[in-house]
Amino acid sequence: MKPPKVFFTCQTCGAQSQKWLGKCPDCGEWNTFVEERAAVAAPAIAEKRSAAGALGGSAARLYQDVDTENAERLSTGISEFDRVLGGGIVPGSLVLLGGEPGIGKSTLLLQAAAHFAASVGPVLYCSGEESEHQVKSRGERLGVGATPLYLLAETCLERLLEEVDRLKPALLIVDSIQTVFSLKIASAPGSVGQVRQCATDLLFTAKGRNLPTITVGHVTKDASLAGPKVLEHVVDTVLYFEGQQHHSHRVVRAVKNRFGAVSELGVFEMTGAGLKPVPNPSKLFLAERPANVPGSSVLCTIEGSRPILVEVQALVSTATFGNAQRTANGLDRNRLSLLLAVLDKRVGLNLATDDVFVNVAGGLSIDEPAADLAVLSAVASSLRNKPIASDVVVFGEVGLAGEVRTTTQAGLRVREAAQLGFTRCVLPQGSLAPGDVPKGLSITGVRTVAEALDALL
Ligand code: TYD
Ligand code: MG
Repeated sequence: MKPPKVFFTCQTCGAQSQKWLGKCPDCGEWNTFVEERAAVAAPAIAEKRSAAGALGGSAARLYQDVDTENAERLSTGISEFDRVLGGGIVPGSLVLLGGEPGIGKSTLLLQAAAHFAASVGPVLYCSGEESEHQVKSRGERLGVGATPLYLLAETCLERLLEEVDRLKPALLIVDSIQTVFSLKIASAPGSVGQVRQCATDLLFTAKGRNLPTITVGHVTKDASLAGPKVLEHVVDTVLYFEGQQHHSHRVVRAVKNRFGAVSELGVFEMTGAGLKPVPNPSKLFLAERPANVPGSSVLCTIEGSRPILVEVQALVSTATFGNAQRTANGLDRNRLSLLLAVLDKRVGLNLATDDVFVNVAGGLSIDEPAADLAVLSAVASSLRNKPIASDVVVFGEVGLAGEVRTTTQAGLRVREAAQLGFTRCVLPQGSLAPGDVPKGLSITGVRTVAEALDALL
């Protein structure tokens, strides 16, 4: 018998080499090569052929003859989860849900599984991390009753697929892709080769049987998905579960979606009985806003297709040690430095000897330039120790010349503000047609930062 072929694989990018290497020549990471062995039994050609047909027949078809009827969506029974998926899960799609440990991935999927089993059809929940007892005791906490929900504590992919054959579920959940292993590959579960193999096999099963599949993916220390990049390429949808330890609300964000808008957002609150959808996140993010305190402004930001009102807080205090500090929470720090420079040069507010702290309340992080004006006004408000009226919403991008630039979807933003009872809005001049102004909201269009600060303070 020939000894199995040994090779080394980079655990970050999947590059392979005959010899061990200290530094990966492809991605430049150090110490990532791990020994792996070639497949125990080379996958038979017949199997490869059947897998190749799984995406829909191997004969080419004319564009207009391809039917799109199967683009219907199945509801997971959780409104916010459906929203990030683009209106429900598409049959035959493979969804990857990533997130830090303990953030609530298993909780969300168990809740979705229970709803799905009750309304659509049987669900197979395969857990490689927890025993059936553990999953059930969580289910009891979540109030899951008797439904056609099958639990399977199994890490062998081939066994899992046998159960799929036997039970013919309407939804398959695999928690998590890092714990399952395929017999076709000799390396350990969670290694690049295994994750790639398992993801590909799950994809073929999903497409071949039109079976919607959701799988959990672990994240690394820097909060990107663990395992090979190919994992993100293979799946149809990548969702990230975000949230902060000390906040009870959680955000699920779509970063890739073949069947919907990206950066769509679903907001949940972690309660004693599981995750509760938050249909109106603006209310949640503004709930604890103090009235008439300097250094606070309200911003209307757009996440995916949804406007959300959040409070931006700033604190300016005299620096006590040498260099002045700039700290940004939920905001890019470089962007903050740039905005402070604009404030200095174009408005004449000098902050060289002050510490500046900016925080987006509620733990949301914002990377939209429309936040600029709200950040600047909060900083100016704290510096001058003058509060901004509590019924004002601000947004607009700020340029280096101190000009305020128009932002996208101004109409959507002002409507959200009006709905939540705000009566004034300071926004870039000319970004709103007169017909778009909602009732009860007065609009102040500004051209420069100085004009905006005059209007606000
Ligand atoms: P879990 O879904 O196990 O996280 P993950 O699968 O992402 O690792 O979530 C576990 C956390 O959620 C745990 O710290 C306890 C908390 N939790 C609640 O607050 N309420 C609940 O009803 C449940 C089930 C969990
Ligand atoms: Mg879990």
